[in-house]
Amino acid sequence: MKIGMLTGGGDCPGLNAVIRAVVRKGVFRYDDEFVGFLEGWRGLVEDKTMPLTLDTVSGILPRGGTILRTSRTNPSKRADGIERCTATLKRHQIQALIAIGGDDTLSVAQKLHEHGIHVVGVPKTIDNDLSGTDYTFGFDTACNVVCEAIDRLHTTAEAHNRVMVVEVMGRDAGWIALYSGIAGGADAILIPERPFNIEKVAESLRQRHERGRYFSIVVVAEGANFSADTDPGTPVLQDMGKDEFGHAKLGGIANVLAREIERRTGFETRAVVLGHIQRGGSPTAFDRVLATRYGLGAIDMVHRGEFGCMAALRSNKIISIPLKEAIARNRVVDDEMIQIVDGLFERTSNEEAVSK
Ligand code: F6P
Repeated sequence: MKIGMLTGGGDCPGLNAVIRAVVRKGVFRYDDEFVGFLEGWRGLVEDKTMPLTLDTVSGILPRGGTILRTSRTNPSKRADGIERCTATLKRHQIQALIAIGGDDTLSVAQKLHEHGIHVVGVPKTIDNDLSGTDYTFGFDTACNVVCEAIDRLHTTAEAHNRVMVVEVMGRDAGWIALYSGIAGGADAILIPERPFNIEKVAESLRQRHERGRYFSIVVVAEGANFSADTDPGTPVLQDMGKDEFGHAKLGGIANVLAREIERRTGFETRAVVLGHIQRGGSPTAFDRVLATRYGLGAIDMVHRGEFGCMAALRSNKIISIPLKEAIARNRVVDDEMIQIVDGLFERTSNEEAVSK
């Protein structure tokens, strides 16, 4: 079979491991031929390709980024964008396309599926917020990067009696903040799913200092929000521009939060924005294995004719689910998970008063 492959959206450690697994099993087991489309959907719109062979995928397993490069190109935002994609696939005589991406990339894959293209999706995002799958690859690597950063920040925070506010990625879901915050022993974890009351955050830090802990670590997801009653009113965006899928560029909440914490507690506070460091570098062993399993699953799905579907991880098995299900909504941190984690943190005196 002649199969196309692309990687779209923000990059993610493990993309190369998926590409390698698809090509190896495709060549070794099915006698497939591959064409790599470059820079996400731009490769299909503008017909930019590279050969994908055993040679071109050799040695890429531990490499971060993606040999196919990526972009946030949305063909639906261009007049005849979808038609150009289908024409490119026809020109290269592609019989099936494997699209590796998050909800944005996979929403275009779904559109092409509706236009009769044989598409299979692979879930990718460090944010871990795709529905229908237990984990996306890249998430584990991001959490390990953040956890190491928190460990390092602990020692300098302790040396200076400071509060360190660590901003991590997570536009709609707080998985990275939650997991790395737990793993790093953070003193407060603030996520988009639960707008936070800054006075309560300040109070919990004061209580901690009263217990003789003169430093604190606060982990905040970039998409977290102040609760309406305590919002200091500063927009927390890098700039007012939006990408082709309509997403604003987030970033900077740590600075606002650090200012507010220092103002309310009097404790010296610093902000650290980890940003794209979380997406760069080599994938962890867990992500290499998961990405490889997704790749092997995707090529099998192509040969079983399971189009319009995405490889997903459920209860440690790779299964196939409709793309529609994966892109229907973001998988956010649920209340049950939040309640479990709540048990790690001391109640503020306000909350004690309320619960009495
Ligand atoms: O979609 C994943 C993500 O990592 C988000 O958490 C973040 O907001 C975004 O990518 C940043 O992407 P960019 O590379 O466009 O700045």
